[in-house]
Parts: sequence; structure tokens; C-alpha cells
Amino acid sequence: MPVVNVNSPIMTQEERTQWYRELAAAASSIRLIHPLVGSVTFAAEDFRGLQHAVFHLLAEACTPRFEGDLEAFLAASDQHRLSIDTTPGSVIKISYKTYAGYTRLHHQIGQILKHLRILERITAMSLANLRVVAGEAKTPDTEKRAYATSKTHIDVWAGEPNDIVHLWIPLAGDVERTTMDLFAPPERLFTEGWLRPLDNYEAAEGLVTDPPLDLNLSIGRALLFDGSCPHRTRRMQGATRISMDVKLLRKPFDATTQFASSYLAVEDIGVWFS
Ligand SMILES: [Fe+2]
Repeated sequence: MPVVNVNSPIMTQEERTQWYRELAAAASSIRLIHPLVGSVTFAAEDFRGLQHAVFHLLAEACTPRFEGDLEAFLAASDQHRLSIDTTPGSVIKISYKTYAGYTRLHHQIGQILKHLRILERITAMSLANLRVVAGEAKTPDTEKRAYATSKTHIDVWAGEPNDIVHLWIPLAGDVERTTMDLFAPPERLFTEGWLRPLDNYEAAEGLVTDPPLDLNLSIGRALLFDGSCPHRTRRMQGATRISMDVKLLRKPFDATTQFASSYLAVEDIGVWFS
């Protein structure tokens, strides 16, 4: 069972909606496509910087170091020619080889959060997950894990704080077919107390009955979605997708306790942006 701060107050639907409304009013690059989901357009320079930092990290994560460009990397992934250390959830592991690259990536993410007017509205961000998601699942067993991302879920069930916001960024590859489904939060999530850790994602089976939101995903357009929005990875016989996701803690909540992911307090990393 994940470690979680059970005493942390549950953020209401209205408080969540208010946060997105205020952010969209302040940040011209964020457009709401649902009261709890924003579509984010990056400045071209920010997105290029992000792709550059990501490719560098991916190259370093390979054994031997990958030589080429992002297109060549995607092709090598589709042909199963990469030797790269990932978790069952396709996340590039933090190791001595990737540490410098991950540090550079977090610096870049912080800059982007500042430009988007998000940094001033959060207390902490999680360590980023950089994912190389293949068109087909690694093995049937990886999909049977208690918290497999291919099952419809919210991260709170896996031990994340209840007030998180996800920033999800498709960076390269086949986001149309190796994609993500996102759902509006079912009313029962709030009225029946489902914003708490569960032993596995099956424990909430049947909670989500509506069809997924119409997202019209494309590379370089990110989503900022509420932690109460169920989501899942969906594979439709496509090719590799590279994406990044980071969880944000909204003010006034703070990461004083240990959660499933590690969080960086904004007041500690603020020195990067002053
Ligand atoms: Fe998730």
C-alpha cells in the first residue's frame, strides 16, 4: 500500500474549477477544453528546448549511447533495436547515466512553468516521468500490474496527493494511435469518497461510464488536467510515442508528507528562476 498523507484535506470540485478558471484568465497560452482540463500551447523556443533536453537524456539512457536524432530514435524503438532501462510503465529510470539529463530536464520544465504562469500557483512539482511508450505492450504481464497505466485510473488511487494537476506533454512520435484517453471526473468520485489510495485500479472498476473526452491530440500541444480526471494509456497498433508527465501541487497544499512520487518544493528550486 502506498504511503500517503491521509489527513490532507480533499480539494472540492469548485476549488479545482476555480484554479483552472483563474489560470486560463492569466495565461493566454492556456485554453480550457473542459472546466478541469486545459490545452497548453508552448512558445516555440520553449518546446524546442524541451525536445532538445529530452533527446539528450534519451540518448544517454541507451546502452551504448544512442547516436542520431529523434526520428532515428523513434525508428530504432519501433524496430526493437534500443537497449534502454525503463520501468514496466515505460518510464526512463533515473540512474548515474541519466541523472545529469534529468536535472537539465527539470530545469527546462521549471522555466516553462514560469512562462505559463503556473509556477506562481503551485507549491511543488513531482520528478518528471519521461516515457517511451511502444506501440504494443511489453508483455501481457506488464498490463496486469496493480497500477498499470493502461487501466482507467486516477493517480490518487496509487498514492499521489488528492489535489494534483497533471501536465502531460506529447513530445514526438505516434500520439494519435499510441495515445491517452481522458475522462471527465464522475460525480461519484467526490460524493462517494473515491479520492483516496486503493490497493489496485480494479477496485474502482465500473466507476467511469462516460466516453473519453474529445482531445484531438498533437505533438507539442500539452494537456493540463486535474488529478480527479480518470485516464489511461491506449494502444491502437500504432508506433512509439515519447511523452513526459509531471504532477503539480496547487497552492495552498504542500508536499509535507511522503507520497508515491517524490516532489520538489518550488521554494527550493526557485533559485533556478530568479
Ligand atoms: Fe496516471
